[in-house]
Amino acid sequence: MHTDHSRPYRVEADIRQAHTLPANFYRDPAAFGRLREEVFARAWHWVGSAGALPTPGSARPVTLLEGLLDEPLALVRDQQGQLRTLSNVCTHRGHLVVQQAGPCQQLRCRYHGRRFGLDGRFLSMPEFAGATGFPRPGDSLPVVATANWGDLVFASLDPQQPWIEWVQPLHARVGFLPWDQLQHQPAYSREYEVAAHWALYVDNYLEGFHIPYVHPALNRVIDYGDYRYELFPGGNLQVGTAKGADEPVFDLPDDHPEAGQRVAAFYFWLFPHLMLNVYPWGVSLNQVEPLGMTRTRVRFETFVWRPDLYDATQRELLHQTELEDEAVVEAVQRGIGSRLYQRGRFSPRMEVAVHQFHRLLAAALES
Ligand code: FES
Ligand SMILES: [Fe+2]
Repeated sequence: MHTDHSRPYRVEADIRQAHTLPANFYRDPAAFGRLREEVFARAWHWVGSAGALPTPGSARPVTLLEGLLDEPLALVRDQQGQLRTLSNVCTHRGHLVVQQAGPCQQLRCRYHGRRFGLDGRFLSMPEFAGATGFPRPGDSLPVVATANWGDLVFASLDPQQPWIEWVQPLHARVGFLPWDQLQHQPAYSREYEVAAHWALYVDNYLEGFHIPYVHPALNRVIDYGDYRYELFPGGNLQVGTAKGADEPVFDLPDDHPEAGQRVAAFYFWLFPHLMLNVYPWGVSLNQVEPLGMTRTRVRFETFVWRPDLYDATQRELLHQTELEDEAVVEAVQRGIGSRLYQRGRFSPRMEVAVHQFHRLLAAALES
């Protein structure tokens, strides 16, 4: 095979001819580091649930992608009820400002007493009489782009994609659902750790091709023959329809693209690491958080709008499916270390979303 050394991670636009990213991509620390800065540091991240900061005048520290970005931020609700994400690093000498969650009228750095408003604005500083050109705008805490989708709060240090554009596919397809009634369920949320490169976890998520082989229980409820994919600029959607007559399905509005169909799940993936699995009972948000070249944390955050449908059977199915996915992803991690494997090809019907992901990664690495 001809290799263009200046473009090691090129992926053909035509899926029928395309090869997957080479195995070397998953072993390349330079590519990993590049994606950390170019993609993850600029992505939209789930940073919490709006309901966790209910009262005006409260703040909570959050670390953005702990183990990868480690960016100290604070989620703050001001007296008017407005939610913001601020840098949590004091503009004096870098101490952390908010150290524990709780009510507050203003923010005060405990190192030398610098004060900020709940909007991040510099308020006062002891012992600075005589300092010239002080304070300057740079003495305020940087405000980070923040937006919410129902109860879900997202933040981005430097959005590569405007928020509106990023969530547009959600609006279009699942905007009719009662997002403002979603209740975060920390007791049913958890973290999984996978011994694999984060992109292998995403690769696996992006196809339903493996369902009949890997997920016997899921395969009994999802109609594999009817499984479909839709791509949009910043991600894609997989639609799973119910196989049996007893499965819970959405009550879709008449003008919905799937009106009249028995949809059991809308699986949204938003580049690079966010999965919003929308079910009749609520939403399972999965955020894929790289910890190293071969270690990935996957946060499963559970939000419910129909508690009557969210039963032990649903929970067990998700957990079981996750363990089955982890087993195959970890086996692939061992496989891509082989000296005898280079790269694969795509199924033109079942791997359109994986192909899109590889194209997006290749583009990010070339930019
Ligand atoms: S580092 Fe915050 S006041 Fe000095
Ligand atoms: Fe799976």
